[in-house]
Amino acid sequence: MSSISFANIGSLVTNDETLGTGKIGELGGSGLQSAGMVIDNGRVTWVGNSADLPDADSRVDVGGQAIIPGFVDSHAHLMFAGDRAAEFSARMQGKPYSAGGIKTTVSATRAASDDELTANLRRLVAELHASGITTFETKSGYGLTVEDETRALRIAAAHTDETTFLGAHVVPAEFAERGQTGADEYVALVVGEMLAGAAEHAKWIDVFCDRGAFNLDQAREILTAGIAAGLAPRMHANQLENIGAIELAVELDCASADHCTHLSESDIELLAGSNTVATLLPGAEFSTRSPYPDARRLIDAGATVALATDCNPGSSYTTSMPFCIAVAVRDMGMSPDEALWSATAGGAAALRRKDVGHLGLGAAADFVILNAPSHQHLAYRPGVNLIGQTWRNGKPIEMQGHSHE
Ligand code: NIG
Ligand code: FE
Repeated sequence: MSSISFANIGSLVTNDETLGTGKIGELGGSGLQSAGMVIDNGRVTWVGNSADLPDADSRVDVGGQAIIPGFVDSHAHLMFAGDRAAEFSARMQGKPYSAGGIKTTVSATRAASDDELTANLRRLVAELHASGITTFETKSGYGLTVEDETRALRIAAAHTDETTFLGAHVVPAEFAERGQTGADEYVALVVGEMLAGAAEHAKWIDVFCDRGAFNLDQAREILTAGIAAGLAPRMHANQLENIGAIELAVELDCASADHCTHLSESDIELLAGSNTVATLLPGAEFSTRSPYPDARRLIDAGATVALATDCNPGSSYTTSMPFCIAVAVRDMGMSPDEALWSATAGGAAALRRKDVGHLGLGAAADFVILNAPSHQHLAYRPGVNLIGQTWRNGKPIEMQGHSHE
């Protein structure tokens, strides 16, 4: 592969604190000089002032637009069929969201062929790329049988390294109708045969630990079994209610506790003193008309915060990271710099990845050329498509609906 230089970058966000000013390490943008970057063999090899740009095999003039690291979407549920637009409409008329809606998608997903699931995943991945996402995680969780969970993860693993076994999404109807006995049997299936089938294709294990889903004892049993099978833990915690899931997430050294909508002061302190990232999913609060989590309190306490889409057909059917950033800035107390960091470096931290989420030397050449002079425009111009070009592994991704010069 040959080297490519990028000249006249209006503002280059590296997330490298040793460069530029502040945590996001922004170069250029001050009016005096613009930034430059060189990539080679899928990696960042040089960043500095555009005036000092070294020679490369080819050169792209960015014309004063901004470059930011590709977004890292650390939480999505992309292995499903069908949609729940009717449920959304009813919710907007006042019907509350409940974990039970998951069962509608489980029926549609079980009925779908492998080809249908793959096509739906590909469609969503194209949307993620079009929104500037270059690394994404996806969970299973809408199959809930040994075969359906295994196939969801097998298909997902062909598209991303970040695959998560979420057999413990909800107790499926055929078990739930037998009450506590059925729930116990389902947990036994998850930690037994289902985990054995899923482990081959999954990197992570997750549990929806909340009202109407799995309780703390069940979550502990499932995550512990996953860890023993070689998977790393992460958790859906405190979305609908605070049932004590943050304590468990921190105790088990989960890479991430996701949602964090309802947090006590002690939860915030626990997260701040841990390696567990607080992943906030504003699309879910938007679409379930719930109060947003308080990112300001988490950041001020010293917790690491990530932003992710939670793309799923029930509670957050969006693939747009710029939308999540806009809401986080408008309604969750984040500054535009903090929101960008959380959607890039924060997401990487939630996946325990060091190679993505930044544009320091040696990082993956995964980045976005914005149709804007700075990342502040992502929140300042809500709903406007500012993703000019998404590059991954040093190459521009061809995007549907974008013209090719
Ligand atoms: O992250 N909270 C659990 N799972 C999804 C919602 C799933 C659904 O409603 O289909 C979420 O919001
Ligand atoms: Fe989720």
